[in-house]
Amino acid sequence: MPIVVSAESLTKRYGDLLAVDGISFDVEQGECFGFLGPNGAGKTTTIKMIQCFSQKTSGKLEVFGMDVGFHPKEIKRILGVVPQENNLDPTLQFTRTSWSTLDTSTFRRKRQGKGLKGL
Ligand SMILES: Nc1ncnc2c1ncn2[C@@H]1O[C@H](COP(=O)(O)OP(=O)(O)OP(=O)(O)O)[C@@H](O)[C@H]1O
Ligand SMILES: [Mg+2]
Repeated sequence: MPIVVSAESLTKRYGDLLAVDGISFDVEQGECFGFLGPNGAGKTTTIKMIQCFSQKTSGKLEVFGMDVGFHPKEIKRILGVVPQENNLDPTLQFTRTSWSTLDTSTFRRKRQGKGLKGL
């Protein structure tokens, strides 16, 4: 099976704090991969790096064979993440929530002078 996430000596520092300490692992396509550790072990930080929301400090991290440092847009386009906590508004119906999210990205693209193609 192809490797979909590959980390090698992956490290993340927040100033003096070493949040992720040189971890290495591979996740195969279709594999159910458990990522366990005590509070503060660096799990969320690692997921954020996989999502390309947080830059790694050092080491190698590839998602779908692409380096997170060079292909964040391509990775974000095909990666789906279901967070532990959702941020849905309990007073909004699902369709309204979807439309308000779309409106936000539409507004952002318009402000950047981009068209609606590729939404
Ligand atoms: N944005 C940040 N700035 C500074 N330190 C951070 C930041 N995010 C996380 N940390 C620190 O990095 C370390 C790892 O945090 P992280 O949230 O990744 O751990 P975790 O394994 O997800 O913990 P938990 O099981 O509590 O969710 C912790 O010491 C945390 O306080
Ligand atoms: Mg966490």
